[in-house]
Amino acid sequence: MNRAPGALEISMTFTLAADAALLKPTRIGETAVDNRIFMAPLTRSRAQADGTPSDLAAQYYSQRAGAGLIISEATAVSKESNGAYLNTPGIYTDGHQAKWAEIAAAVHDGGGRMFVQLWHVGRMGHPDIGGVETVGPSAIAADAVTHTPSGKQSLPVPRALATAEIAPIVADFRRAARRAIDAGMDGVEIHSANGYLLHEFLSDVVNQRTDAYGGSPENRARLTAEVVEAVADEIGAGRVGLRISPGNSAGDMREVDTVGAYEALLERIAPLGLAYLHVLIEPSSAEFGVIRAVWEGNLVLNTGREVDTDFCQMESLAGWGAITAAAIGRAFLANPDLIDRLVLGADLNEPDVATFYAPGPAGYVDYPTLAEAEQPQSA
Ligand SMILES: Cc1cc2nc3c(=O)[nH]c(=O)nc-3n(C[C@H](O)[C@H](O)[C@H](O)COP(=O)(O)O)c2cc1C
Repeated sequence: MNRAPGALEISMTFTLAADAALLKPTRIGETAVDNRIFMAPLTRSRAQADGTPSDLAAQYYSQRAGAGLIISEATAVSKESNGAYLNTPGIYTDGHQAKWAEIAAAVHDGGGRMFVQLWHVGRMGHPDIGGVETVGPSAIAADAVTHTPSGKQSLPVPRALATAEIAPIVADFRRAARRAIDAGMDGVEIHSANGYLLHEFLSDVVNQRTDAYGGSPENRARLTAEVVEAVADEIGAGRVGLRISPGNSAGDMREVDTVGAYEALLERIAPLGLAYLHVLIEPSSAEFGVIRAVWEGNLVLNTGREVDTDFCQMESLAGWGAITAAAIGRAFLANPDLIDRLVLGADLNEPDVATFYAPGPAGYVDYPTLAEAEQPQSA
């Protein structure tokens, strides 16, 4: 059946039993969570022009505080690291931090927990959006377009980062993580997925470097590992998650070897004791088997864009102990009370693709809860 890209079909014949594994509280590092259904990171392009989150963001996130953990939309660690899409937030000024503090307080007031996803866009950036040069591991462009203020444009060929430019990027992640904690967030998730800078370094195709950050699996894993280590040193490993998406082709990402750099990465960072590893992958894939064999810590699974979440499968995986939690994107976007609906076996609101990245409150803070949907419309 044809459907618009990004649309979601959820067959709601599934009801979460009261004793479901996904409803059991647990700890992820330093954070106690009430259940194992997490909100996946979702860019919503509603931030202010200077990267300060939207005034509506506290309402949007607190509406979804029923999630075991909310992972924020991707958030830039520096001005240089932003600019893949219009109106995406940052966490590198006092103003940004103050708004994230409002969001953290609102989510905590609602009984929720929240991590900020930290991001460098890498070769997915466009100078007309971020006002900065596009950079990547190597001068290899993503064959993709992005929406700029003057319309759709192809992504430029990135400038390959000099070796000396890498340590300052690691330091940007460290400082941003400190700001997130100072804002009252429960932790941060390092974004090393979906074709952005850290993922680009992991790739044996997009990364053609000949220095210590390219070539062997250990070298390609080095940047993500250094970021994770620096951030863990700054805020404590129990407040740090890491997101990876081996083999995912988002952003024209290409990898021939979808295992080697990930094995090297996970073996290097395993002793740190991170809060969790978040993997965007199909659980029947060979890569998932490799990761599960290498990674003994908490594992959060998101089954990815092409596959609608099968809650029954997620519940089985959690019940077997194969995953700690399930991360849910579009269904959480459209259903602020997703957990309640799953417990009741109720229908879910359909996500409206047209308002995923549109400015304003429509499709952002106006998806009704079940109780609101059932209220008779006033005449
Ligand atoms: C509107 C939208 C925005 C997204 N933004 C991000 C993001 O900021 N960071 C990220 O890691 N993934 C992002 N993703 C990917 C989601 O986290 C998730 O992997 C994807 O939606 C598949 O999960 P789902 O089937 O539960 O929606 C985004 C996806 C969508 C639909």
